[in-house]
Amino acid sequence: MNAPRNWGVRIAGTGSAVPERRMTNADFTAILDTSDEWILQRTGISERRIADPNAESTFNLSRDALQRALDAAGMKGSELDLVIVGTLTSEMPCPSTAVRVAAAVGAVPAGAFDISAACCGFVYAMNVAETMVRSGRAKAVGVIGAETLSRVTDYTDRTCSILFGDGAGAAVLVRDEDPALGCIHQSMQADGSRWESLYLPVLPRDVPESDLQSTVRLGCLRMNGREVFKFAVTKFREVIEESLAATRLSANDLSQVICHQSNIRIIEAARERIGLDPEKVYVNIDRYGNTSAASVGICLDELTRAGKLTPGLPFMMVAFGGGLTWASSVWSTRGA
Ligand code: COA
Repeated sequence: MNAPRNWGVRIAGTGSAVPERRMTNADFTAILDTSDEWILQRTGISERRIADPNAESTFNLSRDALQRALDAAGMKGSELDLVIVGTLTSEMPCPSTAVRVAAAVGAVPAGAFDISAACCGFVYAMNVAETMVRSGRAKAVGVIGAETLSRVTDYTDRTCSILFGDGAGAAVLVRDEDPALGCIHQSMQADGSRWESLYLPVLPRDVPESDLQSTVRLGCLRMNGREVFKFAVTKFREVIEESLAATRLSANDLSQVICHQSNIRIIEAARERIGLDPEKVYVNIDRYGNTSAASVGICLDELTRAGKLTPGLPFMMVAFGGGLTWASSVWSTRGA
């Protein structure tokens, strides 16, 4: 690794991968007491992608997303010196998903590790990767947010199960001679005293007292939907406003605010309070549901491929999730 110097950082390419299988709201009505109208109105979700447990995994979705990002960048895996995967659904605690992805794209002996920050995984990973490239400690980093939440979803819990989907989003970050390029503001925060709002118990002892009266399925996500909703509506607005104040930008100076796709009502509430134009807040939750750490990465890839990130204008990524965690990342980009 090279001596520290203040480099600029550029997103050289993005990619994403989602499972083949679509699970529609109508599919849920066959297994749960729910309806298409309820799900659509309360969440904005029409369908989500669900991994085939025999053929699709966090590992291979991550690998495919990163390979597409490398292809878009015109780079080889061997040019990466670090791979970071944000996920809460790594197949195994050891090895990490990142080491297998790095090997699969030909990046050995790049450093590789997973970040566990729930739905903030991609934004946390982008912030860490950007800092590594900016400081000169890394030349090129593959960043991935990926989940197979279907593996940890209790399909008898109608509040939780209808929300989640599987997928992966990736970006390749490279150094640039212009230090003005890259992340101009980042935040990564957490409040672990509120973990009971959204957690994934492994052993009976993990179940908090507040949940002892409920039916809890070990190995599956548990969520207090109303608590998370209240937290998210306030936090989204606060994080966006803090990031705007820190960068002295106004909301409409940004080409996009890329929000974690948690619930359309949460995104809309923040958008309206801040006064952002609807076309500046990308939404794909209708097609993918909440893909946790993957959601911001998938949005970033779709926006990039659709040419919706205006060259020369900054954009913001913002997320919140289990932990509770929240994070933002504001990027400046090169003009056309
Ligand atoms: N279909 C039909 N009814 C449902 C339902 C479903 N899938 N899920 C819950 N309900 C019912 C509840 O049982 C409740 O019935 P009751 O009044 O008879 O008790 C009623 O709908 C209202 O429940 P409530 O929890 O208040 O609904 P809500 O409007 O808050 O919507 C969520 C529920 C989960 C969609 C919403 O709370 C939410 O999105 N929370 C944030 C989740 C999130 O973002 N999590 C990820 C964080 S990264």
